[in-house]
Amino acid sequence: MLRRIKNFTRKFQTEILVKNDIKSMDMMPGPRGFLGLGNVFNYTKPFGKYSWLDLHKSGMDKYRKYGSIVCERMVPGFSIVWLYDPNDIAQIFNDGIGNFPCRRSHLALQKYRQDRPETYRSGGILPTNGQEWWKLRSEFQKGLSSPQNVRNLLPQTDDMVREFISVLPSRFDNDCTIQDFVSELERLSLELTCLIAFDQRMNSFAEEERDPNSRTSRLIIASDNSNDAVLPTDQGLQLWRFFETPTYKKLRKAQEYKEKIVIEFIQKKAYQKDKGNSLLDQYLNNPNINVKDIVGMSADLLLGGIHTTSFSTSFAMYHIARNERIQNLLHQEAMKVLPTFDDKVTTQVMNSEIPYTRAVLKETFRLNPVSIGVGRILNHDTILGGYLVPKDTTVVTQNFVACRLEENFSDPLTFLPERWLKTNHQKSNIHPYLVIPFGHGMRSCIARRLAEQAILTVVLRILRDYKLEWKGCEELDISTRLINRPKSDVTIKFIKRN
Ligand code: HEM
Repeated sequence: MLRRIKNFTRKFQTEILVKNDIKSMDMMPGPRGFLGLGNVFNYTKPFGKYSWLDLHKSGMDKYRKYGSIVCERMVPGFSIVWLYDPNDIAQIFNDGIGNFPCRRSHLALQKYRQDRPETYRSGGILPTNGQEWWKLRSEFQKGLSSPQNVRNLLPQTDDMVREFISVLPSRFDNDCTIQDFVSELERLSLELTCLIAFDQRMNSFAEEERDPNSRTSRLIIASDNSNDAVLPTDQGLQLWRFFETPTYKKLRKAQEYKEKIVIEFIQKKAYQKDKGNSLLDQYLNNPNINVKDIVGMSADLLLGGIHTTSFSTSFAMYHIARNERIQNLLHQEAMKVLPTFDDKVTTQVMNSEIPYTRAVLKETFRLNPVSIGVGRILNHDTILGGYLVPKDTTVVTQNFVACRLEENFSDPLTFLPERWLKTNHQKSNIHPYLVIPFGHGMRSCIARRLAEQAILTVVLRILRDYKLEWKGCEELDISTRLINRPKSDVTIKFIKRN
């Protein structure tokens, strides 16, 4: 009976909407899967044609087949609406998400933490939604997001990058080439994250730390494994809720290791006489923050801080190393602000003196954002692309694909930093919701400024001192494991400039 009433109401609602030229979500094109049972099987080997590792390809395929708004039924009762049109993307951020933007992600991480109330008070900032999320975010962002705080961290960041550049030659082979530059950048990101967050040097660049069983190697692997586990556990049948699946086990082990290390850091800090000014110092001094929340946030800083930054820097290096003209412009800009190696990257340099380096970063984020797009749960009914999408629907923006379409960018597959220079009159025609690598609004990346500052410093310092030659495969593809990583080695030859 209830179902008949529901069907009737839906049919009635649909008719009204059609009269007003607004269609119901049922009418939205998109894959429903075999017999309407959901398309998640299409992501399963060996028969599925999609893969979690190639979300950029399935994203493009759905756009070509169904158009700029797509409803994909994942399993019965759960669908994702994919958005490719920047106006729809703007619409969800400006209208669809209300006061507390909600995301549906990191569900298995949430379970891991909720099962351990002796250590955690909540699932942490990544999976938590609503007021509870804002309670965490508003306190934890104080030290991490404000422009002034981030600029205060610039001297430490710059010193660390200089140290990285000094040890770089020890990683060269006989041809001055580094076969796997991503691994070097992961070590730099770990070292930077631990210094800024916990006031801890990890000795990441030392030879002994390259052993897979060292503390730094294990932390890098643990962060990688945690990221890897997110998509397969968020989507599909969620069997991990009932028993420990192999993916859940991988996540659990990774979390246990990170948890052990961050608890050591917290204990050390708590007993330390001379307090520093790290994020951890600020958190421990903040009476509004519970120590269990600090454990969660500390682990999340390791989760969010290492691979996002190192992969973004790797993609920047890939594009730069393939283009001599861009390298020369970067070198000129670097020499202007850092005439000698010992000159410092100052606040003034960061704020206004490196427009070309900034344009290179922006163009890197256009072609190689580390996330396919941004996910939100709608907080109220929203009209998107002429369809009424009900409250509580999960929508995900497809910025990676949208940024590679001719209708949004001329010559879209060419790496052209000049698009972003003030002198380019076409710049104002670019839709502001196309390149949003850190998400958007109150829920955007908590460490955006910190990450940008670190990448810009690395690019400046490397291009100041070196000419680069790309030695990797012809076109570097990506592989998605929550975040997009280079699919093959980032291999670069470094030629010292005089
Ligand atoms: C290039 C580097 C980075 C990129 C491209 C990036 C990108 C993102 C994106 C797309 C989101 C989701 C935003 C949204 O839903 O609107 C996010 C959230 C987040 N990021 Fe980053 N991120 C980067 C670096 C970092 C770093 C260095 C850290 C920590 C040290 C970090 C910690 C976080 C956290 C904790 C969140 C969750 C925020 C919340 O839900 O309130 N990220 N990031």
